[in-house]
Amino acid sequence: MTGEILAARDGAVGWLTFSNEAKRNAISLEMWQQLPAIMAGFAEDPSIAAVVMRGAGEKSFVSGADISQFDARRSNAEAAAQYAAIGDAGRASLTGFPKPLIAMIHGYCLGGGLGIAMMADLRFAASDARFGIPAANLGIAYAAENVRRLVGLVGPSVAKDILFSARRLDAAEALAVGLVSRVVPPADLGVAVQAYGAALAEKAPLSLRASKAIVNELTRPESMQDPDVITGWVKTCFDSADYAEGRKAFAEKRKPVFTGH
Ligand code: COA
Repeated sequence: MTGEILAARDGAVGWLTFSNEAKRNAISLEMWQQLPAIMAGFAEDPSIAAVVMRGAGEKSFVSGADISQFDARRSNAEAAAQYAAIGDAGRASLTGFPKPLIAMIHGYCLGGGLGIAMMADLRFAASDARFGIPAANLGIAYAAENVRRLVGLVGPSVAKDILFSARRLDAAEALAVGLVSRVVPPADLGVAVQAYGAALAEKAPLSLRASKAIVNELTRPESMQDPDVITGWVKTCFDSADYAEGRKAFAEKRKPVFTGH
């Protein structure tokens, strides 16, 4: 009962499923351990334009860390350090993923689960999804990296409301405050996300990667920003064969055929 990460592909879209349904898709250590290799496979596969992550079933996206493992795997400082290192490597494979990453959210998206969803570039939610951060009900501080992403999405005032009150936001409010990008009826969500991801396959891959890298760089703390990353991506795109193809296709009034070079 440790759960698993399922990887699949539908055309140009890679699908990643956090599957631990009996525990509302809680993430076990074994699942964190699987994640880096799966994300590396999606990153290296040139036929994959975007990746969608979701929870198995429709009750919950991810319910956070698998609490049932804490006694056995997080019971002293050494075990906790090992546990943290495995989780860190898994999280880094999500935050460092170079292609568009979309979180598809059915049902509950709480605490650590919301933290995972905020590591995606976009969040598409079913209209019956529920969001919240219950840290104040448990007496813990929400992880600083997650708070930083939350503030970036909703601003400091709404972030404090969500953290202080620990209340649940419905999908409409999550959309209004900027926590999610789009809300779709539950039955249509899978099709909408697949269509959005597939449409990205027609865009210039280097442009997508540049946009993601530049936005990510600009949302890092200012003292950690590297302007060379930004100018490097702009230069890479201007020097690319795809930019020449984009101009040519425009002049010839046809669809461009991009290769990612
Ligand atoms: N780790 C381990 N097991 C979990 C879990 C987690 N993070 N979240 C849920 N489960 C288990 C429950 O213990 C329960 O197991 P049981 O059937 O053996 O009793 C099962 O999943 C179903 O959970 P339940 O709470 O009965 O479902 P629900 O639909 O009423 O509520 C949630 C769903 C997500 C709202 C609720 O499970 C919840 O609040 N989970 C904890 C979320 C959390 O605090 N995460 C932070 C972890 S760092």
